[in-house]
Amino acid sequence: MPTVLITGCDTGLGREFARQYAAAGWSVLATYRDLSTRLADPTMRHFALDVTDFAQFAALKSQLEGTPIDLLLSNAGIGLETGRIGSLDFDYLKRIVQTNTVGPLKLVDALVDNVAASTLRRIVMVSSRMGSIGNNLSGGHYGYRASKAGLNAIGRSLAIDLFPRGITVAMLHPGRVNTAGGGGADAPLSAEHSVQAMRNTIARMGNHETGVFCTYDGQSIPW
Ligand SMILES: NC(=O)c1ccc[n+]([C@@H]2O[C@H](COP(=O)([O-])OP(=O)(O)OC[C@H]3O[C@@H](n4cnc5c(N)ncnc54)[C@H](OP(=O)(O)O)[C@@H]3O)[C@@H](O)[C@H]2O)c1
Repeated sequence: MPTVLITGCDTGLGREFARQYAAAGWSVLATYRDLSTRLADPTMRHFALDVTDFAQFAALKSQLEGTPIDLLLSNAGIGLETGRIGSLDFDYLKRIVQTNTVGPLKLVDALVDNVAASTLRRIVMVSSRMGSIGNNLSGGHYGYRASKAGLNAIGRSLAIDLFPRGITVAMLHPGRVNTAGGGGADAPLSAEHSVQAMRNTIARMGNHETGVFCTYDGQSIPW
């Protein structure tokens, strides 16, 4: 069975990804900002990873040396800040970019050899439609939008650079999901539904599609 590594399994979509892949029989490597929130599933392996802490990436890399990772799933993220021009919280803005943009790149940098050594060789970034510049008709959310647009730019370069190693990269918008950090209680999608659809999209994805930015159910999104 394939192996998936998922970041941000403390709550929300990451936790649901871990549950669903484990239920489907995959080997799950789940990472948590706070390891005490780990899932009570003895079939999974659990690791501490704050994606802004480079020392933890080094520890993870050495713990996983020689372990093939079929699907590297960068899910951990923060947002949406609501500050307006004149009252922006620049410290938080920097933290968003560090978490949502730099962290995923560091994840790939640390574990790309594990992905290259696997059978499926997939990297998926949980992005956001808010990162689409073409679709931005409502403004605001400077840090979050920039962080996800930057993530998309990184994913696209990774798709090109890692193509010769047979690695396929995709950026997925999970939809507006009713997680704590997500679209709020009135959001139309449950984590269960969104993750099920994203898993189907990932499973269908061909190598020729590398570099796509699409919704949970596979609809292309403008950059
Ligand atoms: N829900 C939506 O509607 C929606 C829409 C578009 C995109 N997304 C994206 O989907 C992804 C998952 O979000 P979610 O909706 O599941 O929200 P969530 O419930 O807040 O989950 C985010 C996860 O990321 C973790 N995290 C935050 N900072 C971290 C760090 N520095 N290092 C490691 N983990 C960290 C959180 O851990 P803590 O619990 O410790 O904070 C949490 O487990 C994010 O990338 C988000 O931008 C969500």
